[in-house]
Amino acid sequence: MAKAIEIEEPVTVTVATATSPSNLAAVPQLIKELAEGVGCLESGCNEARQALVTQARSLVQALETPRETMIKHCWAQPAVFAAILCGNECGLWKLMAKNGDKPQKVKELACALGVDPVLLSAMGYLLEVGEDEYKPTSFSLSLSLPIMNGGYPALITMGGPSFINLHEYERSRNWKNPTDAKDSPLMHAHKTDLNYFDLAASRGYLEDFNNHMGGYRQGRLPWMAPEFVPVQEVLIKGADQSPDAVFMVDVGGCLGHDLLEFHRYHPTVPGKLIVQDLPQVVGSIIPSEENKALTPMAHNFFEEQPIKGARAYYLHSVLHDWPDDRAEVIVGRIKAAMRPGYSKLLINENVIPRTDAYWETSALDLVMLSQLSAQERTERDWRDLVEGRCGLAIVKIWSGGRGVESLIEYLFPIRANPVDYKLFQIAGYNQILLT
Ligand SMILES: C[S@@+](CC[C@H](N)C(=O)[O-])C[C@H]1O[C@@H](n2cnc3c(N)ncnc32)[C@H](O)[C@@H]1O
Repeated sequence: MAKAIEIEEPVTVTVATATSPSNLAAVPQLIKELAEGVGCLESGCNEARQALVTQARSLVQALETPRETMIKHCWAQPAVFAAILCGNECGLWKLMAKNGDKPQKVKELACALGVDPVLLSAMGYLLEVGEDEYKPTSFSLSLSLPIMNGGYPALITMGGPSFINLHEYERSRNWKNPTDAKDSPLMHAHKTDLNYFDLAASRGYLEDFNNHMGGYRQGRLPWMAPEFVPVQEVLIKGADQSPDAVFMVDVGGCLGHDLLEFHRYHPTVPGKLIVQDLPQVVGSIIPSEENKALTPMAHNFFEEQPIKGARAYYLHSVLHDWPDDRAEVIVGRIKAAMRPGYSKLLINENVIPRTDAYWETSALDLVMLSQLSAQERTERDWRDLVEGRCGLAIVKIWSGGRGVESLIEYLFPIRANPVDYKLFQIAGYNQILLT
């Protein structure tokens, strides 16, 4: 099969380009900016720290030669993945964390784990304190937490083949953007017709995926925090107070991480908190003191929504898993269950800017493309999908800041009958009042 187009090697690029530092001229200014930025760290401002990380990466890129960057990609990064995954599997990270912050000999670790010592290699993420002797770092300690280590099997073992074979998939599909949930790069790479979630379940990686869902969100301000969304004003005020009423349904809510967090912030909201997901997911929720406020419910979101008239239906990182035609069905099922003028749809997703997108969001966009034929969406995309295709109206987009999912608030209906509602521009956003 042919490549998209055949282009001759450009004569201006020589091996010297590949073996010289990428951008030495930029180095002094980058170091100056980094030194100046260090002062901001004292304020504890996370955005200032993130800006420094970006600058530090630019500095490394400028100093590295293209050859070194290529070796990093082709040798080091795959080797790091392999080392971390093996460390997960054989229990290395947990054992080192259990041993504590002291030098640990490879021989003794290998003996305790029952693995060949040659298989334990450091790749720079452990502190080398002597020959075959290491101390843990905060990164290796973090790898002992399931919410941190789950991403590697869930996204590298499961998702990796779809990335590294994407060019083959694209070549065989004439370089069309994948938008068919039944023909994803992941299916092509794994030679299966199962989607990501079913494949992860069948290969024993669902728990890792669920743990990753609990992990990637850590260290960010959740939308239910008062400085993000005024939940009292937006949801609690006007909510049905009767004990049987449903306050919020978290559709595709995994193990209920969001509802648990919501309950921690708002322990006295009236009504039930229902977490819906596939039977194999909600079936793994173990009842505990911590999650007793939640009601787990097995539900396929492509089928009729059984909970009618809840105050809020909530979708977090669900629609980005699906191309528009499937996302429309998910929203349509919710819309059919909403009580007009009372129920709200809350979508907690990235609203990706047209320019200067945060690197985590751009990376996630490619994860969605390669694993699910899906995508991250811009504001225009959200309007086209949920307003244009589904007929709900955006009330407000609450922004969580750079790289954090926004909360998009929708009301029903937008154009069931033009006489039924008036659309007002209030305080810079669309407010829909039902008459
Ligand atoms: C990306 S995860 C988001 C999970 C959760 N909302 C969160 O943000 O942590 C997508 C979720 O959709 C669930 N899911 C996939 N297909 C589903 C279906 N047909 N019906 C219900 N849930 C489904 C998966 O099991 C998974 O928990």
